[in-house]
Amino acid sequence: MHHGEKKRAAALAALQCIKPGTVLGVGTGSTVNYLIDELPSIRNQIEAVVASSQATEERLRKHGFEVSSLSETGSVDLYIDGADEANKHFHLIKGGGGALTREKVLASAAREFVCIIDDSKWVGLLGTFPLPVEVVPMARSYVARQFVKNRGQPIFRQDFVTDNGNEVLDIYNLQITNPVEMENRFNQIPGVVTVGIFAHRPADRIFMADDNGVQELTRN
Ligand code: 5RP
Repeated sequence: MHHGEKKRAAALAALQCIKPGTVLGVGTGSTVNYLIDELPSIRNQIEAVVASSQATEERLRKHGFEVSSLSETGSVDLYIDGADEANKHFHLIKGGGGALTREKVLASAAREFVCIIDDSKWVGLLGTFPLPVEVVPMARSYVARQFVKNRGQPIFRQDFVTDNGNEVLDIYNLQITNPVEMENRFNQIPGVVTVGIFAHRPADRIFMADDNGVQELTRN
């Protein structure tokens, strides 16, 4: 199976998590797009949808969904999203698509967080995928220098503005040996809006597609 087929298989497997009356948070990216395209088939199970990005909101609208804000729904029963990397503790790197801040808000607000990936995303140590960091534009070089002190190599994501009007640095070369501690520490750098380490709020379940099918993994 190539990546696209695996992504689709993982997305379809996660549909079973959507029970009648669900307030659903929807992530961002090519894996989640497969999920969105299947949502019309279970439309009447969904009480409300909240989107993690403008791109997701537009795709949901095209399928005829009315998209609510988090302030309107107050809470989210289930959040489904992809990831750039995942480890056995269900810590993730996210933000390859640049939607990390809203994704982290929805993951944190959700009672359950389900992650859908293909097996290329499963890693022993997080950090091979460059860590996305959303920054306030005026702080960009200051924040970049702080990551250099931590042995990272920050690259400014060119021609990219987040849905919140900010910029993204991609930090190469980090070995994320202690995701919880590093998420905390990097979050403290003034000018950082969000770091793409999702360790405080890890996934609860992961649907991971490989050549043999989809494995459902549950965090202990
Ligand atoms: C977007 C994300 C995505 O979940 C991540 O980039 C995975 O994307 P894809 O499903 O296209 O591989 O964090 O900000």
